[in-house]
Amino acid sequence: MSNIISYDERIKNFDWSISEKELDYQPGNVINIGWYCSDRICKLGKADKMALIWEGSQGQEKRYTYNELRLTSNGVGHFLRGLGIQPEDRVCLFMDKIPELYIGFLGVLKIGAIVQPLFSAFGDESLIVRLENAQTTAVITQRKHAPKLRKILDKMPYIKHIIIVDADPAKPLGDREVAFDMDHAFKPEDFEIHPTKAESPSVLHYTSGTTGQPKGVKHVHYSLISQYLTSKWVLDLLDTDIYWCTADPGWVTGTSYGIIGAFSNGVTQCVLDAGFSADNWYRFIEKHKITMWYSAPTAIRSLMKAGDEVIKKYDLSSLRHLASVGEPLNSEAVIWSEKVYGKAFLDTYWQTETGSIMITNFPGMKIKPGSMGKPFPGITATVIDADTFEPFDGPGKIGLIAIKPGWPSMMRTYWRNEETYNKKFKNGWYLPGDRSSIDNEGYFWFVGRDDDVINTGGHLVSPFEVESALLEHPAVAESAVVAKPDFVNMEVVKAFVTLKPGFVGSKDLDLEIMNFVRKKLSPLAMPQEIEFIDNLPKTRSGKIMRRILHAKEWGEEIGDTSTLEND
Ligand code: PRX
Repeated sequence: MSNIISYDERIKNFDWSISEKELDYQPGNVINIGWYCSDRICKLGKADKMALIWEGSQGQEKRYTYNELRLTSNGVGHFLRGLGIQPEDRVCLFMDKIPELYIGFLGVLKIGAIVQPLFSAFGDESLIVRLENAQTTAVITQRKHAPKLRKILDKMPYIKHIIIVDADPAKPLGDREVAFDMDHAFKPEDFEIHPTKAESPSVLHYTSGTTGQPKGVKHVHYSLISQYLTSKWVLDLLDTDIYWCTADPGWVTGTSYGIIGAFSNGVTQCVLDAGFSADNWYRFIEKHKITMWYSAPTAIRSLMKAGDEVIKKYDLSSLRHLASVGEPLNSEAVIWSEKVYGKAFLDTYWQTETGSIMITNFPGMKIKPGSMGKPFPGITATVIDADTFEPFDGPGKIGLIAIKPGWPSMMRTYWRNEETYNKKFKNGWYLPGDRSSIDNEGYFWFVGRDDDVINTGGHLVSPFEVESALLEHPAVAESAVVAKPDFVNMEVVKAFVTLKPGFVGSKDLDLEIMNFVRKKLSPLAMPQEIEFIDNLPKTRSGKIMRRILHAKEWGEEIGDTSTLEND
């Protein structure tokens, strides 16, 4: 069984109303993602179906049926209302991949508040800029992450509540802290869900650019229309599926497809909240008989590195369909996955701003390994000339990916940053900031980003943010941060640093600076390598030329250096 229909059939007479009809949504009416992901599935007769199977790092397990998902998220909504949280207030989720994160997400949406998921490994500086920009009212977190919030609370006047889901009753709570045990809280059977409309804000995800602070991508409840249908057609979700999306809901894949797409399609989804190891992942697939697996190229390359022998120890025959997102999926990985799992990982391309899959390979389509596939039905995408912003007249040329605005899950703005949002559009096209070519059969072939943002293991890191953090270290005079090639992560962060007088580069200083960045920002943003140099290449006007350092790392031609200061 599957939802497979040929690509040509899918695009013929495509209209987003297909999704609206399947969801029984009438334009203009109330649409609330929290309701669609829990109450509606119960109404469809699946109240006792397993919604979430969670496994922790110690092997502990928790299970929630759709009815439990409905009631527990009602409980979250009830509790938040009791605290005085209002519709459109920002409520941050700052947790590991524990059930409370998934259920809390639905509960916040049910009262019409805006969910702001933040990656639980973020350090204080990463937290400050995102909580400050969003003027967040409440943060739902775990006891182990609370100290990071306590440290910055003085600078956060907007935060009224820090809600701790696993507070220790024997220990006093800190300033503005309140304990809330979701599993044992009051769970109202009848809960008044806030009547959000299509354009009511839902999720605020932060993403990094080359310059400036991270941007808050504002999504609305209508995004469900895209997320539901792409989950059904691309991830091919069926009622019988046991689905595993390996992404963390601190990032968009973990919410669009790890929460909204999965639950609105009423599938059973499994979550593994443990570090990566090939054995553990294969064991998880075998144990839960995973049928649909949505992962990322870095994970696939790590599995490739672990080798083919380990695969033979496990029964992976339940796997029916595999897909990948976040970075270029090299053809070797596609071919390898077909060889070892009997199924190829299908590449999907999209980003935080697009909210759902834009360009993709999906079942029923001819797959060309190494290509991102074709635009999802209803998506008009092309490649345009970077100077004229006009589409090319023939195939094969490299240009900027350009998408006609107007699909349901398109971001509505960057939070309190309309100016940057407006810059993402040229000549009537939305520009994701990536380069690609299109072949003569309409397949897109990813080339690279059109900016200096580093994509490490599928996570975008802003060189600006890392450079700013480096400058706060007492030994650092100047810094320039670029991507360095890496087999598993595709790119890792490398920092070039000049030191202040009196400091000498050493292994100890190197480690100290790395740790400094890890604590301030996150393990992802931490430079994997620091090179101490005497002078950074600069233009005559004093601007650091990252391009030159980048080219050296990648063994590329350095190009035009006519503006270089020390020529
Ligand atoms: O550069 C593209 C890359 O990841 C960026 C989006 O990152 P983010 O907003 O964090 O969302 C990641 C998950 C949706 C894109 O602008 N990217 C994403 N998918 C692919 C990709 N690069 C190459 N191939 C892909 N399939």
